[in-house]
Amino acid sequence: MTALIPCPPVPGPPVPRHIAIIMDGNGRWAKTRGLPRTAGHRKGMEAVRRTIIAARELGVTALTLYGFSSENWRRPESEVTSLMQLLRFYLRSEISELHKNGICLRVIGDRARLSEEIVTLIERAETLTRDNDAFTLIIALSYGSRQELTAVACRIAEAVKAGLLELGAIDEQCVTDRLFTAGIPDPDLVIRTSGEMRLSNFLLWQSAYAELIFLDTLWPDFTKRDLENAIEEFHRRDRRYGATVESR
Ligand code: IPE
Ligand code: IPE
Ligand code: MG
Repeated sequence: MTALIPCPPVPGPPVPRHIAIIMDGNGRWAKTRGLPRTAGHRKGMEAVRRTIIAARELGVTALTLYGFSSENWRRPESEVTSLMQLLRFYLRSEISELHKNGICLRVIGDRARLSEEIVTLIERAETLTRDNDAFTLIIALSYGSRQELTAVACRIAEAVKAGLLELGAIDEQCVTDRLFTAGIPDPDLVIRTSGEMRLSNFLLWQSAYAELIFLDTLWPDFTKRDLENAIEEFHRRDRRYGATVESR
């Protein structure tokens, strides 16, 4: 990752504070070139680097990247192995650069399924970058929103059973505070590449009022221009949160 320039405030309408991206289409990118799927994943890593820099330059303060879903464990073992290899490589090679650039890294998802080595690398990276407040990069790994919400329900039930929480005190905040994303504002904008129009178990609670943008671009081809276009489209949206224009 090249050094990031300190980012001046971006003039114009407010940019989405938090953008979440479902980085899809690596396999198809590779297939159209007669390459193995792994080549698409490697190329996708370049798009990850580009997008972090672009998001920061455009004034976004939090970026969540969906890297591997709970359901992606169903893929052939060879593909899972090479994705985990890429992840290890990324964590080893990029963390000090992220830290130098004032980026705080958070990883969300079920760590129990990740290797001990990867969990150690994640923990080290999170500790190293914990106090950085210029930009938060959230990587969703072995992440599934239904699994996350199920775990929250269990934790709330345990707190009630232990007498630490009144049944009548359970509210939306109780859930929000127990999510992997506790403390991170909800995404304003969710982008999915590759033409698929679904959320694939991604941030279902957190995206309740996110604007959704689906792009045909395959993830390895995603550029700063695509991000700028998505932000321009976001500015054309009217976020009413259930109210009418008059009642807001
Ligand atoms: C997204 O690309 C990366 C991961 C899900 C890990 P895909 O691997 O899903 O690529 P397509 O959708 O098969 O093209
Ligand atoms: C969603 O992509 C998960 C990630 C981008 C990490 P998938 O390619 O796994 O989703 P489906 O199977 O098309 O819904
Ligand atoms: Mg896919």
